[in-house]
Amino acid sequence: MLGNFTYENPTRLHFGEKSLDFLKQELSNFGGTVMLSYGGGSIKRTGLYDKIIKILEEAGKKVVEDPGVMPNPTVEKLYDGCRIARENGVDLILAVGGGSVCDYAKGVAASAWIDEDPWKRYYLEFKDPDAGAKILPVGCVLTMVGTGSEMNGGSVITNHSQNLKIGKVFDSRLMPKFTILDPTLTYTVPQYQMVAGFFDIMSHLMEQYFSGDDDNTSDYLNEALMRSLVHSSRVAIKNPRDYEARSNIMWTATWALNTLVGKGKTQDWMVHMIGQAIGAVTDATHGMTLAAVSIPYYKYIMADGLHKFVRFAKNVWNVNPDGKSDGETALEGLSALESWMREIGVAMKASEVGVTPDNIEKVADATILGGGYRQLTRDDVVAILKNAL
Ligand code: NZQ
Ligand code: ZN
Repeated sequence: MLGNFTYENPTRLHFGEKSLDFLKQELSNFGGTVMLSYGGGSIKRTGLYDKIIKILEEAGKKVVEDPGVMPNPTVEKLYDGCRIARENGVDLILAVGGGSVCDYAKGVAASAWIDEDPWKRYYLEFKDPDAGAKILPVGCVLTMVGTGSEMNGGSVITNHSQNLKIGKVFDSRLMPKFTILDPTLTYTVPQYQMVAGFFDIMSHLMEQYFSGDDDNTSDYLNEALMRSLVHSSRVAIKNPRDYEARSNIMWTATWALNTLVGKGKTQDWMVHMIGQAIGAVTDATHGMTLAAVSIPYYKYIMADGLHKFVRFAKNVWNVNPDGKSDGETALEGLSALESWMREIGVAMKASEVGVTPDNIEKVADATILGGGYRQLTRDDVVAILKNAL
């Protein structure tokens, strides 16, 4: 049975080529001081920075610079961003970049005006901001596709000294007020990051799909998104400037994690928990950490959710079940997934994302345990990581 749920998503999207034209109109909804948060410099190289500054000037905004948000943003950068936001009394955080910048902006938005340590309150204790707390609005111009951060409340922060990378999912108060989604802004993303993003999308879909034993609308939507991603990714790796492919992938990424396809489902998220633990230890690229452990993980739990792996094989990968046992059909589905992963060129081994026999225990220690079809133990995580090496 489809479970009960509340669905709310307040993010307004402007999608398509030239959607940056909507930024000026969006800015008119906020006060005069805008904190411009961005990453390590790609937006300056691509010319996007100059365009945004011009729009901000035309809108009469005072710009507070906040550069240097790193991939896998750190707790130190979060504290720094809070200081900048507070000292300058900013009215809006404009995040220009990928999931890292957008996640970080939400962290700052929730934390700038609280007295407690945000790392402890939000990321260790998973509390929400108090009712009536001062929360800064966030707007996003997305330049890299994958995380879904542009239309969700997720904010993943890494604390290297504590060996932890933790995602806090904030409520709708922290979802971006608006997001600009122009697929052409993603053309310059390096191939390695591009395909990592593709796999991140696939993983978000699978994390929500592989749970439950019912026949529900969320899973049918999910299958359609998976099929669209597989098709478009094959076009995009050959021609990264294929607008049709890149635009469909951008739209798929947003729907893959704006909470819709997880509604009414228990969900899994174990690949992400192991992937984030790898990230905490090695700082590897998020999508690649997921790719490196996915096949070993799904083979490990396949027997516990066999019916769903059979459905995955048939409905997503067109596996013909005639004359095959359920186990054979399910395995053929995972083989098809594996072939697609090799085709787009993601990490196929945990050693490619920095896992070694020496740090496996450390990764297992950093893994938050849970699961979909099977609740994993720490020993299970160690076994999966050894299979993934
Ligand atoms: O920093 P710059 O110089 O901008 O370069 C970035 C960065 O090095 C570059 N890049 C982005 N857009 C570009 C570009 N380079 C050239 N042209 C462009 N148009 O790409 C690199 C990676 O960017 P990043 O933002 O780190 O990638 P991604 O979007 O994959 O975000 C990863 C972060 O999001 C978290 C991950 O854990 C990780 O910390 N996640 C957030 C989620 C959420 N909010 O719901 C869920 C995800 O599962 C994920 O955990
Ligand atoms: Zn992810």
